[in-house]
Order: sequence, then C-alpha cells, then structure tokens
Amino acid sequence: MRIIHAKDYDDMSRKAANIISAQVILKSDATLGLATGTTPIGAYKQLIKWYEKGDVDFSEVHTYNLDEYRGLTHDDVQSYHYFMHENFFDHINIDPDNVHVPDGSNPDADAACAAYDKIVKDAGYVDLQLLGIGRNGHIGFNEPDAAFSKGTHMVDLTESTIKANSRLFEHEEDVPRQAYTMGVQTIMHARMILVAASGADKAEAVYDMIYGPVTPQVPASILQLHTNCVVVADEAALAKCPR
Ligand code: GLP
Repeated sequence: MRIIHAKDYDDMSRKAANIISAQVILKSDATLGLATGTTPIGAYKQLIKWYEKGDVDFSEVHTYNLDEYRGLTHDDVQSYHYFMHENFFDHINIDPDNVHVPDGSNPDADAACAAYDKIVKDAGYVDLQLLGIGRNGHIGFNEPDAAFSKGTHMVDLTESTIKANSRLFEHEEDVPRQAYTMGVQTIMHARMILVAASGADKAEAVYDMIYGPVTPQVPASILQLHTNCVVVADEAALAKCPR
C-alpha cells in the first residue's frame, strides 16, 4: 500500500482527482470504478473543473459504481444513481450509455446482482477503483462479516452504517436497510485501487485498514494484499498512523 499524505479535505480531493485524471489521460477509454459518499465529492468537483478547462475528456470512459440502495428508483434523490448524476456525470461529457450503477429498483436481488456482476466481468473489471471507507472499515457496502464476499450481492446494512448514512436523509427510518454492492473479490480485480479518506471519524478505520490484521471484520484490510493500492488521506484520517 502506498500512503499519500494530504493536508486537509481539499488537498486530499485534488490529489485523488490528479490520480484519476492521469488514468484517463493515459488511457482515454479507461474503465473507472466509482464511489459515492461525502468523501469523493471534492474529487468529482475538481475533475469537473479540469473537464471544463479542456484538460480531461471523458467521452470514451466507462464507469461502474460500487453499490446502490435496494428499493430506490433511479430518480429517487437518495439513490446513488441520482447522486452520481448530480455530483459528476451531468457535468462532464460522459456517454450516458457508458455509465453503470447496480439496479436498486429491481426487487429481485439475485437477478439484479447477477446482471451487474456480468456487466463488470464482461468489461474485464476496472482499471482504477475509487473507494471511500466506512467508519467500521466497510468498502462499497461490504460490511464486517465472517468471510470476505465475492461477487455483487445483497447486504443488510449494519446499524452503524445506517446511522452514519442517515445524515443525508430527513429521518433515520428513511435510510434503506438493504443494498446491492460489488463484492470484495470484484473490487480486488481492479488493476489499481485508490482509497480516499478524510476526517477524524475515519482515523480508526484507516489505521485498521493499513496496519491491522487482514480480516473480514475490517473489509478494507484486504486491500493490504492488493499489489497496486494507493491511500490518499488527510492528517485527521491518518492521525492514528505512524508518520
Ligand atoms: C457509504 C458508501 C461507501 C462509502 C461510505 C463512506 O456507505 N456505500 O461506498 O465509502 O458510505 O461515506 P462517506 O464518504 O460519506 O464517509
């Protein structure tokens, strides 16, 4: 794992955006695995600015999002589909046909997950996977568990994730209790992984991801075994790690 120290959220966002834009500049038809959450918003904003300046072109890029809440339609403002359009896709020249998010509106979990798995596999997995990290060390929606997950599957969200994500909903009861997520094995197929982390509430998870034992109780810890994983984190998120 390579650790890149950033000063604060803005610095982390610029550094993450630099790495993503370099990937797209080096390979114009790159496949990007993308994430939601508050963490990547700054990087998406930066990429939009560079796109507007003409520095980066997304016309041939294909994207594959990590996860989606089960039971939300694409136009639901709380869906990750909506989030990605609002915060990124609607502001760049990506071809809408090249954008992929698990279909949370399909109540048939097995069918929705198998279909998404096939899409990602047929694409040959992704060149670069951007990840945030949950306070309990989850990646995508792969929650602490007895074993590492494999392909796309349905998960029951933990109380801690429901609580953490409730800040984006009006009431905690509104947070969906289930989601479809790429599995850990699928994530590990990415040729490069970029983890972005910011803030003191991630410090414990970041420490466990980098220095803790590799265990499905901290899903992000498996990234220690990836041969090309970069962590870009700010001072607060790295506070528990030795410099
Ligand atoms: C959600 C997403 C994750 C994300 C995590 C952290 O649970 N499924 O992909 O990494 O939240 O979110 P944030 O960046 O807002 O802290």
